Amino acid sequence: MFDFTGKTVLITGATGALGTTLSTRFSAAGANTVAAARTGADRLAAQLDGPSLGVRLDVTSESDRTEAVQRTEERFGPLDILINNAAYLRVGTVESIPLDEFQRVFDTDVTGALLGIRAAAPADFILFAASDRARFATGSELVADGGFTLGPLS
Ligand SMILES: NC(=O)c1ccc[n+]([C@@H]2O[C@H](COP(=O)([O-])OP(=O)(O)OC[C@H]3O[C@@H](n4cnc5c(N)ncnc54)[C@H](OP(=O)(O)O)[C@@H]3O)[C@@H](O)[C@H]2O)c1
Repeated sequence: MFDFTGKTVLITGATGALGTTLSTRFSAAGANTVAAARTGADRLAAQLDGPSLGVRLDVTSESDRTEAVQRTEERFGPLDILINNAAYLRVGTVESIPLDEFQRVFDTDVTGALLGIRAAAPADFILFAASDRARFATGSELVADGGFTLGPLS
């Protein structure tokens, strides 16, 4: 349905539920697929059909982010699409969530996303898997199994 041949996509949290689906679907659509994860990235990349690369990436680490983009560019050239998919979710009441857990959510989901944008700029597309803006973005669209839509953010 979609043709991403020649496009390079980096997916964070690639070994998670949605990350694995996104990696598989982009690869099947012809993309140069960079599976980025804290563990198991190489194993996932080896299972993908198309051109692929596994990189170790903790999204809260600026050096990991920079190195992941450098390795991507060395292998495939400029990064076209970044998917900020990695996330940490803690559900509970304000009173019940320990402060260190609250900080971990922000470190992963907010600061981690910012570091991704900084390292990846000027990628053509940046998708936040959990954002309404990604869902409602217009233009060239990709709908993954989770129903997310990919489009330009500017
Ligand atoms: N599933 C849904 O119904 C749904 C609905 C709306 C939005 N979303 C969004 O979709 C995205 C993925 O959700 P999911 O359901 O696939 O969750 P998931 O299976 O829990 O996957 C989350 C991934 O994020 C990774 N991660 C967490 N902290 C990280 C860090 N510091 N550095 C690198 N990776 C880290 C985890 O890696 P580790 O294995 O190393 O912990 C895991 O692979 C999230 O942004 C979520 O908010 C999901």
